[in-house]
This record gives sequence, C-alpha cells and structure tokens, in this order.
Amino acid sequence: MATAEQVKALIRSHLNENPDQFITTALQVAAHEARQGHSELAHEIRQLVDRAKSKPAVIVKFTNDLSGLVFSENPEVPLEALVLSGDMKARIERIILEYRQQNKLKKHGLGHRRKILLSGAPGTGKTMTARVLASELKQPLHTVQMDRLVTKFMGETGAKLRQIFDRMREVPGVYLFDEFDAIGGERSLDNDVGEIRRVLTAFLQFIENDTSDNLIVAATNNPRLLDRALFRRFDDVIHYELPGKEECVRLIANLLGTFYDKRFPIEKAAAAAAGLSHAEIDRACRDAMKLAILSNKSRVTLDSLTELLKERHSAYRGREG
Ligand SMILES: Nc1ncnc2c1ncn2[C@@H]1O[C@H](COP(=O)(O)OP(=O)(O)OP(=O)(O)O)[C@@H](O)[C@H]1O
Ligand SMILES: [Mg+2]
Repeated sequence: MATAEQVKALIRSHLNENPDQFITTALQVAAHEARQGHSELAHEIRQLVDRAKSKPAVIVKFTNDLSGLVFSENPEVPLEALVLSGDMKARIERIILEYRQQNKLKKHGLGHRRKILLSGAPGTGKTMTARVLASELKQPLHTVQMDRLVTKFMGETGAKLRQIFDRMREVPGVYLFDEFDAIGGERSLDNDVGEIRRVLTAFLQFIENDTSDNLIVAATNNPRLLDRALFRRFDDVIHYELPGKEECVRLIANLLGTFYDKRFPIEKAAAAAAGLSHAEIDRACRDAMKLAILSNKSRVTLDSLTELLKERHSAYRGREG
C-alpha cells in the first residue's frame, strides 16, 4: 500500500489542481509498490499515468470577471487539415518544432519563437492556424475576441488586457488575440481615436513584456495595422493569401474525401475555385456533398461543385458592391 504521506500528497495535489505534482506522486507510489514486489500494481499505475499524460492538457478556466472575455477549449484540428503553401507550412512547422524543443534551446540561452502575428484576407486560415497550433502542442486554446473586448469595455480595455496578461503566467496554453484589428486601423475613426491608440500601444507593450512560455497569436485581416512598431514585437509575421491552383486542388481533395474518385476532374474544379478564399471553397464543397447525399449519390459531380463555386463568386462580388 502507498504510504500515508503519499496518500496525503495525492489529495493535496488534486485539491490544488496541480497535475504535475499529482503525476510525480503517483509515480512514487508505483516505485514504492514495485519495491514491495507488487510489480503488477506498479505496472498498472504507470499505465494510468501514461494514458493521462497523452491526453490534451487540462483546461484551466479563467474565473471571475475574465470568464466572459476569454474562451477556452481543447481544439482537435490536425496540421494536415490546414492547406497552405509549402513555405507557410514550413513556418508553422518551425513554430511547433521550436515549442517542442524549447528546453534544448533554453540550454543555449535561446528562446522559442512564440509571439506570432498572422495577417491576411478573411477566410484563409488564421483562426484555424491557432487551433492547429493548440492541437499539435496539446495545449488549450484561450481566445480573446478583441472586437468584443473593445466594444464592451471601451474605457477599461487596457485594464482588462492587463488582467489577461497577468493571468497568462498562471494559465498555460496558446493565446489567440483574434480580430486584433478592432484596436487599430480604420474602424478606430468611428470611435475615440485617442483611446484606441492607447489600447494598441498598451497591447504591444504587454506583448513585449510578456516572459511566459506561452504561444501568443495575434490575428488581423487589416494590413493597414502592419507598421514597423508591430513587426518589431513579433518573432514571426505570417501573411495569409487566397489559395493558388495547387492549394485549391489539395483543399478540394481533402474536403471531398470519399466523395470523389480518380475520374473526377479535380483540376477543373480547382480552376472554378480560383479567386475564392479557403473558407468559401470549404463551404461550396460541403454544400456539394450535401447535395450528393440528399440525392442518394456517393460522389460529387463537377457540375454541381462548379455551380456552387460560382454562387460563392457572385456572393463575393455582391459583397464588394
Ligand atoms: N488554409 C486553410 N486550409 C484549410 N481550411 C481552411 C483554411 N482557411 C480556412 N479554412 C476553412 O475555413 C474556415 C474559416 O477559416 P478561418 O476562420 O481560419 O479564417 P480567418 O483567416 O481567421 O478569417 P477572418 O479574417 O475572417 O477571421 C476554417 O474553419 C476552415 O474550415
Ligand atoms: Mg479569424
């Protein structure tokens, strides 16, 4: 049996929500049992620990007045689902690699790249990238919807941001400051420009001063924001663009899955998708699959997909007036 001290340590670490301590104690119990000759029990305990470790990190919830501002989740979006150009993919992979090997880098006095700015057209995968990073790193994703923060707390936005950055040290995870343009760019003209400027400056300062190990991702689709002051604060700035021909092919193939076969002229479908964002192609493919299912077909036809892509093109044009 585990010693009384070990039982107490287990209870303490559970009540203090300290999973690392809990696991360390559980392994001590396993070692203790092994020494007593209870090798089967020791083995079982180690297995339980291994299983727990391979699960995504436990979400530590934001409490008090931050709970409505920071949305926490454990996303499951594999890197393979993200369709990007080879160069961009390599940069995402580099972020993942450096994060995973951060201790190795630390030994040489180097930090892993962890302050990332994603900018570019709507629907090209910026928010999705943050979800992929959290999934790949088995970390919770904490999303701060910046536009909501600003509209809700106008005069107090800076104070709220400070609270979020303060909590960051205690709550590990990937932090996404989404729709980051809410605190800069043209929209600010409608509001109190001075206030917005102050918030943006404060935000950049918080980013600069942050010394946690967390990954911070800021996403914007307003390129006007990208002045030099911004670039300087980030370890990486990644520009998102509409998918090229090759990416369209990969995206359509990924999405249609078993709903297409070798005979399907995917190049033609990709040509019809040119000029649309990933999100719009995604939507058209899903609609084409729905059409196939509802008419009891197991495959999508080029005609129906082309038609749906056209529909999205005209929706696009309509939006731009
Ligand atoms: N690069 C991509 N690869 C695969 N799917 C994508 C990609 N980009 C977008 N999608 C699909 O479109 C959806 C919406 O994309 P996402 O929210 O990531 O766009 P965004 O760049 O954040 O847009 P916005 O600037 O409007 O916030 C995703 O959930 C995904 O289904
Ligand atoms: Mg987004």
